[in-house]
Amino acid sequence: MKNQHHLKQTKRSEYAFVLEGNNEIFGTGALAEVGAHAKHLGMRRVALYSDPQVSTLQIFDTVLKSLRNSHIKVSTFTGVEIEPSDRSLKAAIRFAEDDDFDGFVSLGGGSVIDTCKAVSLYASYPPRNFLDYVNQPLGQALPAPGPLKPHIACPTTFGTASECTSVAIFNFIELGTKAGISNRAIKPSMGIIDPEALITLPTPVVAANGMDVFSHAVESYTARPFTQRPAPEDPVNRPVIQGANPFSDLNCLEAIRLIGENLVKAIADPDDFDAREKLSFAGLLAGIGFGTAGCNLPHGMSYAVSGLVRDFRARGWPQIKPLVPHGFAVIVNSPSVFRFMGPTCPARHLKAAMALGLVDDGRVPGEILAAGLIDIMNTIGVPNGLTGLGYNENDLDALTEKGWKQRRVVENTVRPISREEMREIFAGALRYW
Ligand SMILES: NC(=O)c1ccc[n+]([C@@H]2O[C@H](COP(=O)([O-])OP(=O)(O)OC[C@H]3O[C@@H](n4cnc5c(N)ncnc54)[C@H](O)[C@@H]3O)[C@@H](O)[C@H]2O)c1
Ligand SMILES: [Fe+2]
Repeated sequence: MKNQHHLKQTKRSEYAFVLEGNNEIFGTGALAEVGAHAKHLGMRRVALYSDPQVSTLQIFDTVLKSLRNSHIKVSTFTGVEIEPSDRSLKAAIRFAEDDDFDGFVSLGGGSVIDTCKAVSLYASYPPRNFLDYVNQPLGQALPAPGPLKPHIACPTTFGTASECTSVAIFNFIELGTKAGISNRAIKPSMGIIDPEALITLPTPVVAANGMDVFSHAVESYTARPFTQRPAPEDPVNRPVIQGANPFSDLNCLEAIRLIGENLVKAIADPDDFDAREKLSFAGLLAGIGFGTAGCNLPHGMSYAVSGLVRDFRARGWPQIKPLVPHGFAVIVNSPSVFRFMGPTCPARHLKAAMALGLVDDGRVPGEILAAGLIDIMNTIGVPNGLTGLGYNENDLDALTEKGWKQRRVVENTVRPISREEMREIFAGALRYW
């Protein structure tokens, strides 16, 4: 493997990668098993988290029934805020603190699962300051003081793969930015992924999720290779996010292929269950991929795009507050990033383009992938770059200021970029057609 050009080593650099276990169940009909798994994990009194929309769906009853059939007492919290904030997390944490639960089940998209991940940590080990567990530089990134109660995560979307990662994301209202909690302890004990849950998913959410999956996969595939990190002094201290590695490569290329074959189809025909099932699997594969490799610029820059939102509201999401759906906040940056980084990592940009089903017509590295993606974005109704989300040239400094702060993600690139270069990339993302 070392001989692969992309994984070339330098002296004292990392030479191994770690695959931490994923405990995921994938299959149509699997939601009816939640009770059996909860019981197996020792749960008797469960807090079931969901959001106001998902809790009205048939799948919510399926999970509730399944838990009760396994003689588990259930209390429900159905008020999870979409694109959660520190304020909404606090309300969800209070619910868990007010009772003596011995486990958690989350049923919903990334908003619900992330909320429940934070709840499992904060309610068990309340920090002195809310930011104590939040990633640096905003917070202290403190580790969990002990083990957490079991948490079964049941995704009803397919974009975030939150069920298999150690990350929870929320809007930190005071600073107008998204913040992350990356903590090994909050990875759910298991994920139960039932593609049937996607039947009711609104088309615009399918589009945003598909774009999120695609970007997870390409960003991981073009991330700084694990061999470019220094090896840890103590081998037990390998980080969760290690950079591109042969295992993440495998997952991500297949995820890109599945997106290429199924996303446009699934949006053109909402009754095409086969396409939705494949998208669900793509989401899982990309999640396993970025769970070890890590994302890079499009996600790093997306925190600014969603954090600085003025009045954008998207069809298919609750209209109670302006919000930029995560998948859109990410993908508006991606073509510009591909154009910029393509020359640094040409073979991988080309291979990603081929996996998406594009043809090598000899254009400069990154351009084939960027143009192919722009075509898909336009076809499936993604907003036209930053302009489509309500930004203009005058916002470039503010976007750069906030995006630049996301060091952990921004630095996971094959070559470091300067602040001025990030501004250039944002400028290139203003509009695409
Ligand atoms: N933890 C991670 O690793 C990670 C990664 C990426 C994104 N995120 C976060 O996840 C959030 C986005 O999550 P998301 O894209 O999964 O969507 P979401 O949870 O925000 O939900 C989007 C909309 O779809 C609705 N919905 C969800 N499932 C449905 C279904 N089956 N049928 C009908 N409607 C349904 C919701 O009610 C909501 O209105 C963001 O906050 C983002 O920052 C987390
Ligand atoms: Fe994402």
